[in-house]
Amino acid sequence: MVAEVHSRSWRQFKETLSLLTLALRLKRSRADLVYKMLGTHNNLAEESLFLNLGYWEHATTYDGACTALARELAKDAHVKDGQAVLDAGCGFGEASAFWSDTYKLSRLVALNITESQIEVGRKRWADKKVEFVLGSALDMPFESASFDTILALESSFHFPDRVQFFREALRILKPGGTLAIADFFPLDVKITIKQRFKEWLGRGFWQIPQANWIGLQKVQDQLKAIGFKHVSLRDVSPFVFKPFKIFAKDRIKDPKVSQRLHPLLAKAWGGAHSGLERSQYVVLIVKKQN
Ligand SMILES: C[S@@+](CC[C@H](N)C(=O)[O-])C[C@H]1O[C@@H](n2cnc3c(N)ncnc32)[C@H](O)[C@@H]1O
Repeated sequence: MVAEVHSRSWRQFKETLSLLTLALRLKRSRADLVYKMLGTHNNLAEESLFLNLGYWEHATTYDGACTALARELAKDAHVKDGQAVLDAGCGFGEASAFWSDTYKLSRLVALNITESQIEVGRKRWADKKVEFVLGSALDMPFESASFDTILALESSFHFPDRVQFFREALRILKPGGTLAIADFFPLDVKITIKQRFKEWLGRGFWQIPQANWIGLQKVQDQLKAIGFKHVSLRDVSPFVFKPFKIFAKDRIKDPKVSQRLHPLLAKAWGGAHSGLERSQYVVLIVKKQN
């Protein structure tokens, strides 16, 4: 028991150092370090290892909400049996495993820059037809015109040069192929200095580059300038932020969860979410021209 407490304290001490290093921007463009620090224990999940805010229209559990978000993204992207699909920024591969069960895909690749997540995903989903690939969304190790659909489930906000990801997506998509993004974008609303400071710390910790902290219209303009054709846009904010916040506030009180969470993360997840409060969460679908 004493040894257990000691090892947890030591782990949390190391996590505190990582957290501060990231939040204070001593390291930049290193989303892999965020997820290395989070490990498999710093999350709000029940059985899964999902890491997104979830879609809470009908869900009552975190796992259910995250699965629902994966479902909504694939549904809006019109994923079909027989397609070659890329999960860009796949976490532990939870969404890929779900898509692999839902569709009979010809190929399903789960790409991630975080080595520890790829290692866990490979073991966890050894029985699924998912190819795990370690690599960056900015320089994807795939042939041109090789995918029908790219699904970026709450990952593109990290990409250090998101426009470069859009270019790469255009390259590896087949003509008529689809890029589908579920992500949050800031709204142009006034916030207090205190909120701004918290947002600055949060963006540091989550490694959200300044260049990505732009409104959705600008992002859509970037996609258009690169050559993507707009298909659909769905603002799902009411089904994401508020219900997630209510859930998280309660979830961190569960002793099983509070024991494994780093205290600062528990405080952030249980708190005001100031960066997210002035954001919109959308499912955005664009296509490469035929
Ligand atoms: C918020 S998590 C979402 C994970 C997963 N999609 C899910 O919903 O559970 C963001 C993921 O993007 C990955 N990521 C961040 N930057 C990346 C990059 N440049 N290339 C590939 N993956 C990246 C992270 O390692 C992490 O797995």
